[in-house]
Amino acid sequence: MSHISQTYSDLLAQLMQLANHQSSLSLPQILDTPTDSAEVFSFCKAVMDEGQRHSTELWAAHMTPATSSASILGQVLAGLHNGNLLSAQLYPLLQQIEQQLISWFCQLFQQQYGHFTAGATYANLEALWQAREQCSNQSKLVYGSHASHYSIAKACQILGLQFQTIATDENDKMLPAALEQACKKQAPLAVVLTAGTSACGEIDPLKKCIAICKAYGGWSHIDAAWGGALVLLKEHQALFSSMTEADSLCVDPHKAFGQPKPCGVLLYQRPLQSLFSAEASYLTQQPLQSLPGSYGGELFLPLWSSIMFNGVSSLRKQIEQRLSQAEQFAMQLELRSDWWIHHSCTGIVCFQPNTTINKLDTLLALGYLSRAKVNGRNVYRAVFSAPNTQAATLITALEPFL
Ligand SMILES: Cc1ncc(COP(=O)(O)O)c(C=O)c1O
Repeated sequence: MSHISQTYSDLLAQLMQLANHQSSLSLPQILDTPTDSAEVFSFCKAVMDEGQRHSTELWAAHMTPATSSASILGQVLAGLHNGNLLSAQLYPLLQQIEQQLISWFCQLFQQQYGHFTAGATYANLEALWQAREQCSNQSKLVYGSHASHYSIAKACQILGLQFQTIATDENDKMLPAALEQACKKQAPLAVVLTAGTSACGEIDPLKKCIAICKAYGGWSHIDAAWGGALVLLKEHQALFSSMTEADSLCVDPHKAFGQPKPCGVLLYQRPLQSLFSAEASYLTQQPLQSLPGSYGGELFLPLWSSIMFNGVSSLRKQIEQRLSQAEQFAMQLELRSDWWIHHSCTGIVCFQPNTTINKLDTLLALGYLSRAKVNGRNVYRAVFSAPNTQAATLITALEPFL
């Protein structure tokens, strides 16, 4: 689909047309017999069109990027291969590729071990599971902030742990003094820090908080699902200098590295321990140390393919471009309005118009923006996750409200 770059009303008309066209199609029924192929193809086309919203200049609702043709080739390769790395001895090439990528991530984030996951929800659960099994301090408390992703609270619930929030500053960053105070009261099993909060993209003070966690014998986990992509940029290296101190860390290439889902990475500083005991003698290596069951190249061949065909420099360039568009968007909003604006270094811009908050809600359904809460404040949120999202086009879309 060609990129959209016309005037605001043209854009709106086009997208409305697309939305109406899609909603007028009815889903083919599930039958004993094959469905007419023309009907199936026309539905497939509509499904593809729906996904094209990620390729437009106005897509800024969520962390879902448009994917490159090299990544899609990797997806096809994974489908054709369809091996299961629970029996890694049968697929030495696939295993080598996984190991090569994991070594690369370990080097980038200064961690020691790791594996791919189906995303940060699973990674956060497994990291806290390891923490529960490895920490000897008997605590059931997990400290995070109200801006931690909800998968942390979910993981605590599953694992029988207690999630407790630590106060933040006005931009949702954890306050080290508040963490210290909480730890003094009761030592934690783990402290979860976020590098790129889901709402506004902020980064907790990693170094200070990890040091506090360590002093009280806790496991420190960094949820870098969104912000971890900055590791590829020289100017952000200081942020990652404390990564080596963290016990575990996760990052989602399916968010800020432009990859198709599912592609998550979980890294550890300490060797993994068995999490439970089970009998699965039909497998050469029993997967007792991690959460995933059957998995294969679908988790990493798209990323591998995009690196092989386009190089790491292309990933880096894409991240730089996204961040630059976010910066331009924030600058333009600042120039053109007296709204409250927050711009994080990970590529999310939040703002609160000084009119009634729901004035811009028409733009939500179009995928231009989403809503969020930052420090209790209801805001709109523009997420620069896709390579084509353009600050100038988004500003044009906001024009009637400025
Ligand atoms: C900071 C953070 N952690 C974890 C997640 C969960 O990731 P997933 O939906 O890939 O499991 C998200 C999703 O947006 C996130 O923003």
